[in-house]
Amino acid sequence: MLDVAALELRYGAIRAVRDVSLTVGEGELVALLGANGAGKSSTLRAIAGAHKPASGTIRLNGENVTNQSPERMVRNGVAMVPETRDVFPDLTVAENLRLGAFTRRSDEAGVDEDTQRMFRLFPILSERAEQAGGTLSGGEQQMLVIARALMSRPRLLLLDEPSLGLAPTIVGRIFDMIAELKSGGLTMLLVEQNAAKALAVADRAYVMRSGEIAAEGTAADIAAASDLKALYLGG
Ligand SMILES: Nc1ncnc2c1ncn2[C@@H]1O[C@H](COP(=O)(O)OP(=O)(O)O)[C@@H](O)[C@H]1O
Ligand SMILES: [Mg+2]
Repeated sequence: MLDVAALELRYGAIRAVRDVSLTVGEGELVALLGANGAGKSSTLRAIAGAHKPASGTIRLNGENVTNQSPERMVRNGVAMVPETRDVFPDLTVAENLRLGAFTRRSDEAGVDEDTQRMFRLFPILSERAEQAGGTLSGGEQQMLVIARALMSRPRLLLLDEPSLGLAPTIVGRIFDMIAELKSGGLTMLLVEQNAAKALAVADRAYVMRSGEIAAEGTAADIAAASDLKALYLGG
């Protein structure tokens, strides 16, 4: 489904990502691991159309989508949940969800139906439907931004550090939910610093170090490679 080849990303003179190639097949859950500053978020942002690559190509189902806008990428079926976890604090949970369906505003019945589907998937959001997004706990806000991304009916979901800063029980719930989305057939690229948790749900993984892919393999192989721990845990 996703085919990234020889991606190079720059911030002015700084080369943040170099020669990154990765693929995500239909229905696969692929983890992108690595220490802080390795280039994971930059890579996700480039795939989502939010960072223009200096070079390299991004293909989606064979079509070259390099340099397309973020909105166009959502229309192409790619939704991103950024690490910034940015809910609209003054809008209600229900309003936040509706905004996720911005690409198909005219389809009111479909949007209502999807909102109900999100409430079934995330019962806590149903309880908080009329509450302002800013009043939710960190874990609830994470669920809200994931649900909001799903409102665009993505074929590929990009998740950036969904467990960051959350209490262990909430982290467990977020990963249960990722596993549930996977069994529903959703294709995902998951950026995580929590390598053990990510490898427990992923099919395959890539490990980034200093802007490059340092290792790749099945989740089981990466989890078993003890020498990689220093790479993806930043040791
Ligand atoms: N907006 C930015 N301006 C300049 N440098 C940036 C910016 N965002 C990220 N970087 C740099 O790019 C590199 C990769 O960052 P990032 O993609 O956020 O890594 P990760 O998500 O793996 O922690 C780091 O060296 C970081 O300092
Ligand atoms: Mg990051």
